[in-house]
Order: sequence, then structure tokens, then C-alpha cells
Amino acid sequence: RKFLQFVGRATLITVVGGAGTFYYLAQKERNPGPQLPFDPEKKTVVVLGSGWGATSLLKTIDTADYNVVVISPKNYFLFTPLLPSVAVGTLSPRSIIQPTRYITRHKARTVSVIEAEATDVDPAAKTVTFTDDSEIKGTTSTTTIGYDYLVYAVGAEVQTFNIPGVQKHAVFMKELHDAERMQRAFMDCVETAAFPGQDTAEIERLLHMVVVGGGPTGVELSGELHDFLKDDLMAWYPELAGKVKITLVEALPSVLPMFSKQLIEYTESTFKESKIDILTKTMVKEVKDRSVVLQMPDKSIQEVPCGLVVWAAGNKGRNLTQNLMAKLPAEQTNRRGIAVDDHLRMKGAEDSIFALGDCSATSYAPTAQVASQQGAYLARALAQIARKDGMEKQLSHLEQTKQAGAFESEEQKQNIDKEIEGLKNRLAKFKPRPFNYSHQGTLAYIGSEKAIADLPFMNGNIASGGVATYLFWRSAYLSTLFSLRNRTLVATDWLKVKLFGRDVSRE
Ligand code: FAD
Ligand code: NAI
Repeated sequence: RKFLQFVGRATLITVVGGAGTFYYLAQKERNPGPQLPFDPEKKTVVVLGSGWGATSLLKTIDTADYNVVVISPKNYFLFTPLLPSVAVGTLSPRSIIQPTRYITRHKARTVSVIEAEATDVDPAAKTVTFTDDSEIKGTTSTTTIGYDYLVYAVGAEVQTFNIPGVQKHAVFMKELHDAERMQRAFMDCVETAAFPGQDTAEIERLLHMVVVGGGPTGVELSGELHDFLKDDLMAWYPELAGKVKITLVEALPSVLPMFSKQLIEYTESTFKESKIDILTKTMVKEVKDRSVVLQMPDKSIQEVPCGLVVWAAGNKGRNLTQNLMAKLPAEQTNRRGIAVDDHLRMKGAEDSIFALGDCSATSYAPTAQVASQQGAYLARALAQIARKDGMEKQLSHLEQTKQAGAFESEEQKQNIDKEIEGLKNRLAKFKPRPFNYSHQGTLAYIGSEKAIADLPFMNGNIASGGVATYLFWRSAYLSTLFSLRNRTLVATDWLKVKLFGRDVSRE
């Protein structure tokens, strides 16, 4: 009896303690304290973008050192790894975004967050021009500001290779609105197929989903689509679900070329079991209203009817990036993006522009992992630069004092000489550390509660399915989410789906 009482009390204390801690942390996140105002004595860091690179920088940067201004057409951070889950209704769109102000309001000094699109960067004048491109505009909607340091983190845009019909007929998987659009289009296909009297060939067409691009985005999306089909559509559209067909088209000889052979084979066999067709060495040549035109491995052309085409064929640099690079033609010759040195300084504008993430051309893959490590690194590098700037300022002040020669005593003169000497030594030793990427592994969900992982430990490759992998995948993402709020929203969505299934209503 005593033992049961003890267990009862311990459980009660744990539950109350846990709930109390949760409430405290949530309130802390929700109620930021007062902030210092902008300081005209400090240098200004302008950050372009609110994605992985920029947000990681904002989380880490010490605003005691700088006045910080953030400019991005989206006033939020998007957790891209969970975007395919939004596309099939597993997660609600708002669960994977975090308003940028929720981060900047917690900084020691006020950070100015501006919802606008940067339209021009002038590296010579050190200015950025930006425009409010939202629906509602005030009397002013374009302006130019100066910067001391520019953190250029605008990411990339969808690569269409100018293939006819892609822009017009395909759905992308890059931004939040893409995932929402895909969910609506997919359910529209299903409901249209359910329309009374629809003929068999048309039902087959409407229920044929083509995913273009066998990179991680296309693979994860195909896996999520399969889960939606198996877990929910089977129950709510029993007469149609068996007719849904998913085809993944990849131009290269295999999907997921960045993963090992073992993981590729595991993915291919899982897709086979899930009845997802993989067409490799097959290139999409055109996307039409009701079909997709494919160049098959034997170079023959086939037009395949389909209801929906999702385009996940990779990224390219934004126009803004190309324009900026064109202003430094001698140094910026890399077609993949902005060339930077080991300290993420843009070549040709090393003293004032840093570029990171998908807009830059480095030896690393364009991933969230790289961008976020670069953001955190740069925040620390900027703190070092601030310390160096401070030392230089102090040195020039002391040298001026020395030159003026107005010493109260010989001892004071000697002290100043000593300080100058010390500062010079410290400045000579000042060697900022270069960026060093630490690969934490790559994880991809492939549907049917299976995930693949390429890890820097355990011999590199893990390919497994079942509850443990599924939980590992989910806990890895939960822990990477930036806030308690997002973690709670995502976990709640997962629980809702486990209990009630995905919502098949179409907004
Ligand atoms: P982004 O995160 O794209 O941010 C760019 C920012 O710049 C955005 O806020 C944008 O609004 C803003 N911007 C755009 N134009 C302008 C402008 N003119 N002026 C100012 N701001 C501008 N990587 C992983 O490592 N793991 C994953 O599991 C993973 N999953 C992914 C799933 C999907 C569906 C996608 C699409 C990508 C995934 N990635 C993943 C890749 C990862 O999202 C990118 O590598 C990462 O977003 C790059 O970060 P970034 O800061 O360079 O760019
Ligand atoms: P990607 O560039 O990795 O893959 C695009 C694929 O589309 C390529 O394999 C290419 O051969 C194929 N393709 C291009 N044009 C084609 C055409 N006309 N017809 C048929 N196939 C065509 O792009 P993705 O998947 O969007 O990934 C972008 C970046 O984001 C990568 O660095 C990736 O590693 C990262 N990412 C990582 C994830 C993870 O770690 N789980 C998930 C999603 C993305």
C-alpha cells in the first residue's frame, strides 16, 4: 500500500511539475521583456531573408553589438522539412511557421522587422532597396537604407529549366502556399473523380499523381501521399482509393543520388511495396493541363494523362542574386550562386557582405542543416568583428590622446603606451575562425512509417521501418523545431491525425 501511495505521489508531482514547467516556458516565450532602443553609435547589420540561414543568425546574434534590421517578403520562418506533411493535411500550415518577431522580440536590443522584398543591393554604396509587395500598400512602398554589414540569405527559387507548362500547370513544393495549393488540387482531383457519371478513363487520369524529381523533396512527398491514401482515402473514398496512382519521375539513373546504394535500394523496394511507380532515366519535357510529356529511357516520347503534377526538380538562384553577382563580375563567376570565402564573405565585397544558405555556392549541399550552421557561425563571427572594431576604436582614441601630448604625468604616458602596445598585440593575434561544417546526418521519411538515415556514426547508413524509426524521425524533427509553440502544435497535429485521421475537406 505504501508503495502505491509513493507511486501515486511521484506521478502527481511529475505531472504537476511538468505542467508547471511547460506553462512557465510558454509564458516566457509569449511575454518578452523590454528591449534596448537602436544605438546610433553601433554599426547596422541588415539581414535579407527569414529562412533557415537568417533565422539561425537572428537566434544567435548578440544585439548588444549591433543595430539589426531584417527584411523579408515573409514575416515568418518556414520549417521546410515538414512541408510535405502539410501538403497531405497531416500538419496544419500554421504549425510549421514561426513569426520572425517571436524571435527578434526576445533579443536584448530592438530588431527592426520589415515585410518587404529586397529589389536591389548596391555593394559600392552599401545600400539595399526594398519594396512592399503585399496587397495593401501605404503611401510609401519602396525605400533604400544603408548597411555596415549585409547578411545575404535570400535562398533560391524553383528551377523549371523553362520547360513548357511547368509554371502554368504544375504545383511546386517550396513555400507554404505551394503545400496548401497542392492539398486543394489533390482533393479537387479526388472529388472530381467522384462526380457521378465520370467515365473510367477520366477517373484514372484524375487519380494519377505525377511527382517530378527524385531528390529528397519528391521522395518524401510521394511517401506522404501514399500514407494519406492508405490511412485515410481508403476509408472515406473506398470506391476510388484503389485507383489512385503515384508516379515518381527522375531524369537520373536512380532516385536520391546523394544517398548510398543500400539506402536507394531500400527506398526503391519500399516504393514498390507501396505501389509507387518510379520512372528513372525519364525526363519531363512538357507539362500540359491534363497530361505530362515524358522522354523515356529509350528517347521515345510518351504523353501520360494525369490529374496533378508536383514539380520538385531542384532550385536556381533568384534574379536579385544574379543582379548582385553581375555587379562584381570579376569575382562572381560561379553559376551555382554567390562565391564566398571560408568566412562566408562575398568575394568582391569581403568587407561588408556575407552570403549563406542556398543562395551561396560552396562545397556543401544546399540544405537547412548547412544554412543554419552558417547562420549561427556568422552570428559568432559578427561578435568577433564587433570586438575587433571596438579594439580598433579604442586604439585610435589612445593614439590621438598620445599625439595631443597632454599627459598629466609620466606614469600616465607610460600607461597609455602600454595599452597601445597591448591592443596592437591583440589585434595582430586576431584571426577569426573559418566556417567549419559539421554534418549531423541526413534523414528522409519515405512513407509507410519508414525512414532512411545517412549518419556520420554507426557505419553511416540506417535503413529501417517500424515504430522505432518512425518515432526517431518524428522526435528528430520535433527537437529541431525552433520553439516550444511549434513543437506543441506539431505534436498536437500528429496526435489528432492518429486519433481522427487527416481531414479530407477542401477549403
Ligand atoms: P530559405 O530557407 O529558403 O530562406 C530564404 C528567405 O529569403 C525566405 O525567408 C524568403 O522569404 C526570403 N527572400 C526571398 N526573396 C527575398 C528578397 N528579394 N528579399 C528579402 N528576402 C527574400 N534541408 C535539410 O537539411 N533537411 C530537410 O529535411 C529538408 N527538407 C526540405 C523539404 C522541402 C520541401 C524543401 C523545399 C527543402 C528542404 N530542405 C531540407 C532544404 C532547406 O529548406 C533549404 O536548404 C534551406 O531552406 C536553405 O535556407 P536559406 O536560409 O538559404 O533559404
Ligand atoms: P534536388 O535538386 O535534390 O532533386 C531534384 C531532382 O529532380 C534531381 O534528381 C534531378 O535529376 C531531377 N530532375 C530535374 N529536372 C527533371 C526533369 N525535367 N525530369 C525529371 N527529373 C528531373 O531537389 P530537392 O529534392 O528539392 O532538394 C533540394 C535540396 O534540399 C537538396 O540539397 C536536398 O538535399 C535538400 N532536401 C533535403 C531533405 C532531407 O534531408 N530530408 C528533404 C528535402 C530537400
